Amino acid sequence: MKPYIIAPSILPSDFTRLGEQVAECEAAGADWIHLDVMDGHFVPNLTLGPVIVEACHRATRLPLDVHLMIEQPGNLLEAFAQAGASSLIVHVETCPDIARTLEKIKLLGCHAGVTLKPETSAKNIEPALGLVDQVLVLTVHPGYSGQDFMPEILPKVAEIRRLLEKIHSPARLAVDGGISAGTISSVREAGADTFVAGNAIFHHPGGIAAGILSLRAHLQ
Ligand code: DX5
Ligand code: ZN
Repeated sequence: MKPYIIAPSILPSDFTRLGEQVAECEAAGADWIHLDVMDGHFVPNLTLGPVIVEACHRATRLPLDVHLMIEQPGNLLEAFAQAGASSLIVHVETCPDIARTLEKIKLLGCHAGVTLKPETSAKNIEPALGLVDQVLVLTVHPGYSGQDFMPEILPKVAEIRRLLEKIHSPARLAVDGGISAGTISSVREAGADTFVAGNAIFHHPGGIAAGILSLRAHLQ
C-alpha cells in the first residue's frame, strides 16, 4: 500500500483539454484522479456526470475517485460504476441507510468511501467506518474549488484517524479542499494519507507537474 496518495481534482482543470490534462497528471506521478459530482441541490454548484467519468477513463489508467455531492446517490451508483469509477464516495448526510449504500457500491465492484461536510461530526460516520475503503474529510464547504483550507477541521482528521486505528481499519484517510504546499503538512500530521488538490495542481504557476511535485515535496 502506498504511504501517500495524491489525487488531482479536475474541477479547476481546463475542460477544453481534459484528456491532455489528465494524461499530464498521470505522467507527473499522480496516483488517482478525483472527480467532483455536484447536483445543484446538495451543493449549490452543478458539475459533471458519468459521461465525463467515462471520458477520463479513456484518457488514463489511473484509478478514478468519484466524490458524489448529490442527493439520493443510490440512483446513480450503477451509472458511475459502468463509466469506470474505481471508488464511489457518498456523503453521510445524503444516505439514510449508509451501510446499505456502501454495500451496493461494493457489489458494483468499486471501492466504497464515506465523506462528511465540515459541520458534520465524526460521530455520524463512526458506525460506517468498518465498512469503508476510504474516509474523505472535507476541509472546505463543498461546492467550489479554490476556497481557503479550514484549519478548524484538523482535530476531526485526527479523531477519525484514532477511530480507524481503534478498529484496525486499513481504510485510507483522505482530505479534500484547500490542500496546498502550505497546508498539506498539517493534514498529514493530523493523520491524513491521501490528498485531493485542485487549484494547487491545475493553477500552479509552473504547470501541473510542478504543482504535483510541490505537494509531494512535503510528504518525504
Ligand atoms: C470541493 C471539492 C474539491 C475541490 C478541491 O467541493 O470536493 O474536490 O475541487 O479543490 P481545491 O483543492 O482547489 O480546494
Ligand atoms: Zn472532492
